[in-house]
Amino acid sequence: MIFRRILYYIIPCLLFILFCTACCSSPFQLKTAEMTLPGWDPAHRDVTFLVISDLHLRPEILDRRFYRVLERRVKELDPDIVFLLGDLLDFNSKGKIAPVKEKMLSILSNLRGRYGSYAVIGNHEVYCGEGMSVELFQEAGYTVLQDELQTVEINGRPLSFIGVQEGYRQNKYLPARLKELLKKNPVPLILCHRPDLFDGFPLETPFIFLSGHTHGGLFSFPFLRSGVFHFKGRPVYRKYPYGIFRSGKGKLLVTSGLGDSNYYSRFNIPYEVVLLKIRPE
Ligand SMILES: [Fe+2]
Repeated sequence: MIFRRILYYIIPCLLFILFCTACCSSPFQLKTAEMTLPGWDPAHRDVTFLVISDLHLRPEILDRRFYRVLERRVKELDPDIVFLLGDLLDFNSKGKIAPVKEKMLSILSNLRGRYGSYAVIGNHEVYCGEGMSVELFQEAGYTVLQDELQTVEINGRPLSFIGVQEGYRQNKYLPARLKELLKKNPVPLILCHRPDLFDGFPLETPFIFLSGHTHGGLFSFPFLRSGVFHFKGRPVYRKYPYGIFRSGKGKLLVTSGLGDSNYYSRFNIPYEVVLLKIRPE
């Protein structure tokens, strides 16, 4: 009798609750982060930065509820600035974008900050065509920074940051022009798809370095630290898979981002957007 009751009533109820939870819960987490930095302008202590990375948009997944939730979340948060850290796109071959361009634009153009959206490109934008990706981002209303400085005036004070071009694997390969730009403009914020350049980044003043790319290390198992999988043996991904780190005058934030590539997935690593505030130290 009891067994029959469990079979006919309790199990369906539990399955229904599970189904409702899966449908109604957010498919990603909103992580709030507060970092401190010596010299940070007190006028910018309440500025909200929404950090979005590694969306990996590709044609077959553009209709997912995930993106509707993301658009709604960004609208609700109404961040001052949106930073997009690359790998927003994920195509295997160039030219595939035309049939789905409008759908992609409708997702990307909703990720807007009150003072603008600023993007750097990642390795997957290079794979699917750097020029096309930059054009698409610009059409979506983003300012794309490729070894470029951007200054935004907020609360009557300038806030500057530099976006680093994709492709430099080590600081020794940085072009002289970028080194000169950093020397002349010791900005407090650096956007760079990969965390590779964080150690020894050529800035002599305190800075915060924002990166994605690692997807949190892809796998996280109990009793083993995240980032066991370290991307083709590159030790930087094992060292900085996910979270906040410090080295010298720099602080690094690596976000696990929002998506998966079409040739790998993740296990026990959150999908996330990061709402960041920076305070003077
Ligand atoms: Fe990447």
